[in-house]
Amino acid sequence: MEFSNDLSVIILAAGKGKRMKSETPKVLHRLCGKPIIYHILKAVMSLGPKNILAVIGHKKEEVRKYIADDFPSVLTVDQDKQAGTAHAVMMAGSYFDKMGSNILVLSGDSPLITSRTLKSLVGLRQKEDLAASILTSIADNPYGYGRIVKDKKGKVLKIVEEKDAAQAEKKIHEVNSSIYCFKKDLLVKNIKNIGTGNSQGEHYLTDIIEMFIDKGEKVQTYIVPDHFEASGINDRAQLASAEERIQLRINKGHMENGVTIRNPSSVFIEDTVIIEPDAIIKPSCFLKGETIIAKGAVIGPFSQITGTKIGSGTIVNSSVIIGADIGPDNNIGPYSYIRPDTITGHRVKIGAFCEVKKSTIDMGSKVPHLSYVGDTKIGSGVNIGASSVTVNYNGFSKFKTIIEDDAFIGSDTMLIAPVRIGKGAIVAAGSVITRDVQPDAMAIERAKQKNIRKGAAKYRNRKKTDREK
Ligand code: UD1
Ligand code: CA
Repeated sequence: MEFSNDLSVIILAAGKGKRMKSETPKVLHRLCGKPIIYHILKAVMSLGPKNILAVIGHKKEEVRKYIADDFPSVLTVDQDKQAGTAHAVMMAGSYFDKMGSNILVLSGDSPLITSRTLKSLVGLRQKEDLAASILTSIADNPYGYGRIVKDKKGKVLKIVEEKDAAQAEKKIHEVNSSIYCFKKDLLVKNIKNIGTGNSQGEHYLTDIIEMFIDKGEKVQTYIVPDHFEASGINDRAQLASAEERIQLRINKGHMENGVTIRNPSSVFIEDTVIIEPDAIIKPSCFLKGETIIAKGAVIGPFSQITGTKIGSGTIVNSSVIIGADIGPDNNIGPYSYIRPDTITGHRVKIGAFCEVKKSTIDMGSKVPHLSYVGDTKIGSGVNIGASSVTVNYNGFSKFKTIIEDDAFIGSDTMLIAPVRIGKGAIVAAGSVITRDVQPDAMAIERAKQKNIRKGAAKYRNRKKTDREK
C-alpha cells in the first residue's frame, strides 16, 4: 500500500525520560549503536510519508542536532513545557494545513515498532474510515500502560491511564502503545478541547478517544500480536531488553540471508552492516558502522570491526579493525589492531600482535608477528620479520616508509622514516635503517660481533670472588 501524499507523521519526543536517570535525553540513548529515535524514524521513513514532525523539548538542541544530521528531511517543533501528550500534538498545529489526511502519531520511546505494523494501522483507519485506529497489544503485566476500555461487544469506549484507572479497569490486559493513526480533520477539530481533568493535570492525548465515541465517530484497535513490538522504553532495564530484541531481529535477518552466526546472542551487529552469504560470524563479535563482510569470510571469535570492508574468504581472529579495506583471502590475527586507511591486497597476512595504520600492503605480503607498520606502502611479496617497526614519528612530524616488491625485512629492524627499501632488497635482522636501500642490495647496520674465549666463565668467577670479599 502506498500512502505518500496522504500520510503525515508526528513523533512525540519532548519528555524528559525521568526514569532513565540520565543527562542524555531519552530518545538519544543508544540501541544497537543508534539512538532510540533513529529506529522509529527509520520505520516511518519507509512508509514514504508526506512529512514527518518531531516534537522536542527536554534538551531540545541535542535532539534537534541529531535529527538534522541524520534525518535532514524531518522537521522539529518545540514544546517548551511538557504539558502532556495532547499538548505535544498541538505544538505541531502550524503544520496541520500541510499534512495528509492520515496523521500517524508515535511516541519517541517505542523503537521496536516495524513499518509493516504501521502500514496495517494506517490501512485499517483508511479502510474503515475511522476517526482513529489505535495500536494496542496484550500485555502479561499491563502495569503502567493506558488500558483500552471496551464494551461487551468489543467496541472501544475510552483509554484510561494507570493512575486514573478504577480497580476493574486495572485488570484489563489490552494496553495502549501510544501509536495511533488519526483522521486529520477530526484530530484537528477535537484536540484543542482536551482538558487536564486527570490525576497528573496534563492534557492526555488518550482522552480524544472518548470524545470521538461521544460524538458517534468510529474507533478501532489494531492488536499487534507481539507485545514487545508496541512496548515503550522508560528505564535502563527496558532499554537493555529492547536492545536484545533489536539485535536478535538484525541477526535473524542475516541468518535468513545465508550467514552463519554462532551463538547469536553474543554477536552485536549494527543495522548498517552488510554481510554476504556464507560468511561465518563466530561468538562475541561487534560489527559496526558501514562495514561490509564479503562471502565466505570468517570473523571472530572476539573481533570488533567498524566501518571496514572485509574481502571474501578472509579470516579475522580476535582482532580490532577500524576504517580499513581488507582484501580477499587475508589472514588477520590473533590479537592485531588495524587502524583507519589501511588497505590490503589479495592473500595478505597480518599475524599476531601487530598494529597497522594508514598503510597499503599489496598481494601476498606478510607482517606475521609483533610489528608496527604506520604511514607505509608495502609492495607485493614482502616479508616483514618479527618485531620490526616503521619508525614514522620523531615527536614532531610523521614520515612515510616505502618497501618495494619482494623486499625482505629481517626481524627486529627499525626503519626510520622517511626511507625507501628497493625491490628485492634484504635488510639484515636487528638493523636500524636510516638511509634508502637500493633494489637487490643487502643492508646491514649492526656492530661487528665479538666472541671472547672463556669470557663467560671468567665473568662468573669475577662475580663469585666479588661476593666472597
Ligand atoms: C503513554 C500513554 C499511555 C500508553 C503509553 C505507552 C498518554 C497520556 N499515555 O504513557 O496510554 O500506554 O504511553 O508507552 O498519552 N511527551 C511529549 N510531551 C509531553 C508528554 C510526553 O512529547 O508533554 C512524549 C514523551 O517524550 C514520550 C511520549 O510522549 O515519548 C509518551 O509520554 P510518556 O510520558 O512516556 O507517557 P507514558 O506514561 O508512557
Ligand atoms: Ca512511555
